[in-house]
Amino acid sequence: MPTRAKANPHFDEGILVWSDEFSGSYAPPGDYARQFDEKWRLVLEDPSGQLGFNDGPGVRLDDDSIDRLVQEWIGPAASDGRNDSDAQDATLTSHVDPSLIKGRPCVDIGCGMGRWTRVMQVLGASEVLSVDAANHAVESVSRFNPNVLQADVVDLLDTHPELAGRFAFANLWGVAHHTHDPRAAFMSAAQTVAPGGAFYLMVYSPEGLHNSDRVNLFRKVFNDLQTTEERLSFVRAIHRREWHSRLPITMNSKNVLRNALRRPRWGRVIGLLDMMLPWYNWTIPLDVATGWLRDAGFQEVTVLNEDSPNRVAHHVLGSEKTA
Ligand SMILES: C[S@@+](CC[C@H](N)C(=O)[O-])C[C@H]1O[C@@H](n2cnc3c(N)ncnc32)[C@H](O)[C@@H]1O
Repeated sequence: MPTRAKANPHFDEGILVWSDEFSGSYAPPGDYARQFDEKWRLVLEDPSGQLGFNDGPGVRLDDDSIDRLVQEWIGPAASDGRNDSDAQDATLTSHVDPSLIKGRPCVDIGCGMGRWTRVMQVLGASEVLSVDAANHAVESVSRFNPNVLQADVVDLLDTHPELAGRFAFANLWGVAHHTHDPRAAFMSAAQTVAPGGAFYLMVYSPEGLHNSDRVNLFRKVFNDLQTTEERLSFVRAIHRREWHSRLPITMNSKNVLRNALRRPRWGRVIGLLDMMLPWYNWTIPLDVATGWLRDAGFQEVTVLNEDSPNRVAHHVLGSEKTA
């Protein structure tokens, strides 16, 4: 996990919303390979989910969980109504045409444990290249995909020029906003797409909890702590709504009250860890995200969760890339 050695726009300047004018202003958080690696190690070492790490939609790779994600992307009609009961909770209100993936070479950039790699495999991709900076992410995906690459998305094309225009479909789900330059990260990933190809982009939106003082405070406290043990103990305290010396008294008092009223715990341990761990946690305005796709040459740009009440993130599909 990173130690807090340098300035951070969120913690030190209170800037949570990305503007392309910031491009080039911030530095990488030390080493991207280390940033998420500890989290994926904890998940891999908790196969039963008993410790609270291998628990949640971001990490589950069992067939039912993957089926739900397939349905999320392509919609209940195209997926033969599998898991119909979950359809009403889906994040997306428009869907991905499965023919963009079936029989085509795909790339999953910032693949994490590999859930979207599995989704593309299930949808019949001719191949999926799974790319991540973190060693334990690559280790996880290697269990079901031999086609893996440990690399940094921001300079992907400098280190791997052979990937330029190699793929018909690219996925960049929850990755760009964790980099020092989300526009540069996106533009780099977009170069892997061939003319005519498509791109799935998910970024946090300023309308959601990631653009809140409360989450920024949790993240700042977490990143100020020095050891993995202290950080995990802080995450568990937030999950259990326990009193914590680094939190303001008003927040602690409310937590005492909530616990006395037996209110449910907050989120999942793995979800909270995911929220606090990254050095950069930008939120991206919708017009900025759609502008990136247009600037990269995607002629069709569709917001997939436009009508959804869940606006923690923007899900945007670009297609018909120009040459
Ligand atoms: C929030 S996780 C999302 C994982 C996966 N896309 C998913 O939806 O399950 C972000 C992932 O991006 C990876 N990542 C972050 N910065 C990266 C970079 N600069 N280059 C490559 N991967 C990066 C992290 O290691 C992590 O696995």
